[in-house]
Amino acid sequence: MKSRYIPITIIVAAFCMAAAAGYVLFPGEAQDVPARVVMENAGGRVLFTHKAHAEEYGFECTDCHHDDLERDTFLSCGSCHPKAFDETFRAEHPKAFPDKEACLRCHDEAPEGPLAEEDRPSTEDIPLRLDAFHGQCMSCHEENGGPTEDDSCYECHAR
Ligand code: HEC
Ligand code: HEC
Ligand code: HEC
Ligand code: HEC
Ligand code: HEC
Repeated sequence: MKSRYIPITIIVAAFCMAAAAGYVLFPGEAQDVPARVVMENAGGRVLFTHKAHAEEYGFECTDCHHDDLERDTFLSCGSCHPKAFDETFRAEHPKAFPDKEACLRCHDEAPEGPLAEEDRPSTEDIPLRLDAFHGQCMSCHEENGGPTEDDSCYECHAR
């Protein structure tokens, strides 16, 4: 290595170590609670003020994230509330979960392969994506304030 590169190498290494140490001390704090979530959808983009909801409005994470799992972060709603319970969902949904424990939210045990008809969880009680979002946003707003009436579409959706 040419000697003039040595100082810069040391500086870069120092930054990397500081970054790594910071990550160990405060594991992903900033990334684990998104400030805002942008949702593109057929009704017009929704900008969800996630951090305000989680901090200023005084709710617990699990008021909304009801996945019942012991972990530091949460799964996206869409991993359990798909657009449709179709062939794609059947084939792809196990990949949305980081561990087997997550399967138990809906299955009696973690399935290893294709399931007999009677071992498949009922899709009747699991709301699809639109109903999961509208349902949770609206029912809390009805109780605690926030847009919920029939004419409030554009308080959430961009025109
Ligand atoms: C008022 C409801 C609400 C509260 C309270 C809330 N969240 Fe969320 N959170 C959401 C919604 C809705 C999303 C969007 C999920 C999606 O797009 O599927 C989300 C997304 C997330 C994501 C990104 C998930 C992903 O992979 O897309 C993380 C991580 C997260 N929240 C963590 C937290 C933590 C930690 C807390 C508590 C400090 C918290 N949330 C409080 C509703 C909430
Ligand atoms: C690990 C899977 C999983 C995740 C992740 C998940 N849900 Fe659910 N959700 C379910 C299941 C299963 C049901 C069916 C009823 C039950 O078992 O509680 C349900 C029920 C619901 C219901 C109807 C009943 C109720 O509790 O109000 C709403 C609304 C809902 N989910 C919204 C959401 C939203 C919004 C998110 C993301 C912030 C989310 N869910 C994340 C699995 C999940
Ligand atoms: C949000 C609830 C939910 C979670 C969580 C979940 N599943 Fe499922 N799973 C279902 C439903 C509902 C069906 C049946 C779908 C149908 O009948 O169309 C199913 C079906 C299956 C099938 C059968 C597919 C087929 O073609 O016969 C397998 C395999 C499976 N799941 C594996 C898993 C694994 C592995 C996990 C965890 C890593 C998991 N699932 C997590 C709801 C869930
Ligand atoms: C657990 C309760 C709860 C849930 C779930 C919830 N909200 Fe709220 N939301 C509130 C409260 C409380 C306010 C503040 C009302 C006030 O102070 O006027 C609010 C305000 C808002 C506002 C206006 C102010 C702002 O921060 O932008 C919007 C838009 C909004 N919510 C969108 C959503 C969307 C979209 C969802 C679903 C993804 C959602 N909310 C889910 C409780 C909730
Ligand atoms: C409290 C906020 C809020 C209000 C009020 C609201 N929506 Fe939504 N809407 C959402 C969220 C969040 C989603 C889900 C976004 C996603 O799927 O990523 C959504 C999704 C949709 C979708 C997309 C469905 C799809 O499959 O792509 C349509 C259409 C829609 N809303 C229509 C309406 C109409 C019409 C009204 C008024 C009667 C309304 N919304 C009021 C938050 C809201």
